[in-house]
Amino acid sequence: PLNWEHGKFSNQPKFERDLFYHGTFRDDFLWGVSSSAYQIEGAWNADGKGPSIWDNFTHTPGSNVKDNATGDVACDSYNHLDADLNMLQALKVKAYRFSISWSRIFPTGRNTSVNTHGLINGLVENNISPMVTLFHWDLPQALQDIGGWENPSLIDLFNSYADFCFQTFGDRVKFWMTFNEPTYQAWLGYGSGEFPPNVNDPGWGPYRIGHTIIKAHARVYHTYDEKYRQEQKGVISLSLNSHWAEPQSLVPRDVEAADRMLQFSLGWFAHPIFRNGDYPDAMKWKVGNRSELQHLATSRLPSFTEEEKRYIAATADVFCLNTYSSRIVQHTTPRLNPPSYTSDQELLEWEDTSWPATAMNRAAAWGTRRLLNWIKEEYGDIPVYITENGVGLTDPELEDTDRIFYHKTYINEALKAYRLDGVNLRGYAAWSLMDNFEWLNGYTVKFGLYHVDFNDVNRSRTARASARYYTEVITDNVPQGLHLECSYRRISGEELTIYNKPTTCQALSGLQRAGRSSGFSQTCG
Ligand code: FCB
Repeated sequence: PLNWEHGKFSNQPKFERDLFYHGTFRDDFLWGVSSSAYQIEGAWNADGKGPSIWDNFTHTPGSNVKDNATGDVACDSYNHLDADLNMLQALKVKAYRFSISWSRIFPTGRNTSVNTHGLINGLVENNISPMVTLFHWDLPQALQDIGGWENPSLIDLFNSYADFCFQTFGDRVKFWMTFNEPTYQAWLGYGSGEFPPNVNDPGWGPYRIGHTIIKAHARVYHTYDEKYRQEQKGVISLSLNSHWAEPQSLVPRDVEAADRMLQFSLGWFAHPIFRNGDYPDAMKWKVGNRSELQHLATSRLPSFTEEEKRYIAATADVFCLNTYSSRIVQHTTPRLNPPSYTSDQELLEWEDTSWPATAMNRAAAWGTRRLLNWIKEEYGDIPVYITENGVGLTDPELEDTDRIFYHKTYINEALKAYRLDGVNLRGYAAWSLMDNFEWLNGYTVKFGLYHVDFNDVNRSRTARASARYYTEVITDNVPQGLHLECSYRRISGEELTIYNKPTTCQALSGLQRAGRSSGFSQTCG
């Protein structure tokens, strides 16, 4: 049962893959920007806020964060609400995705003392829809002290925090995400151990924690469904992340390996939640099989009871995707020991060196179209929101042409998925509103449409060219604007254009022509 998306595009020549497509998104397309609490808020101990595991981690020497950076002040958004609202207004976004810091609301993680501030009202007054992530990795330290996500009582505690948020903000918040990127949370926090709580248990940890997260998500979904949906009429989901996986060759085992990579990243959480309450076959099979060969009594991948499956299935209203890059994938058979979530996948993955480099990933916009098609094929015609997409750069100038190129090409591929392939795409949120604390990279990798001066006590914000570009995209509802350098190829007597470099191209203006009826451009768009 291979997902045919790998086949659908496999014969597409590169020039065709990279053609610019003209067209618009639906009128109510939800254009937004994204951020998260620990990465921007600062005020780490203001007004009784309790510490999170990220506060403690960055305060511990040897944490491995670049320049020993912390989120103590970050963009100081806690004290600069107006500055943030001004940017959002200037950008003309229709939505703002941010996260709530659990230990700011409940300093010890429990429903005993409460503490809120005015962002949500500010957004609503400005007609910007809040898209709220309940958990973007900053677990209250007090809950880590009782075992964190290893402790099943976290399911109840997360539920009562979520319940409080629905009750308190749900009259104004109509879009909820329980978890941000549980795949990374589970792997980085409990597999490789690079992120707090720094558990290095690659063969078991991620699966164990993933299991609890899925149950916690389902629990919160049912709370919303039973207590709030009727009155509040919002949607609830979670943000899942994946690269696109492109098979290295079309031999079946490489195609299967590519599909498997998607099952281990997206499918791990999406298959139970969007399909049948259970893990993807590829995961059950591979982890089970390798566990057996490792002479273990049971699979390292836990299993759900039939009752749990029924409880977990269909617990999301929309599909929220975070995506930044692609990987080329080849089948391999890694050694059996030590057991690991990475070797369980039985594949090698890499980036093609011809893709434009960025500070963190290489850009491969075309993968986004394929990934969106794969999601449609796997999970059906569900509304999809891209809740994060963007590019980290090391020392971008205010004229950040590379970022414009990145968003333009990625948004164009999302447009192709919507218009040409019928993917039910409803929104796109750029990561990020402004430069911020980029986890282990500290402040060295910059994702912002806005530059933040981290040497200024006021953390002044300045629009980059990409911010103005994004406003144009939003206003026109199409990814056009700025002309980019292109290469040409003659196909059946016609000259077609492929964009391939993030540099501005003046010489082309004479060549600009209107898009043809097919929608594909002979110019740079
Ligand atoms: C994602 C995270 C987000 C941000 C971007 C660059 O994995 O969800 O917080 O760091 O990467």
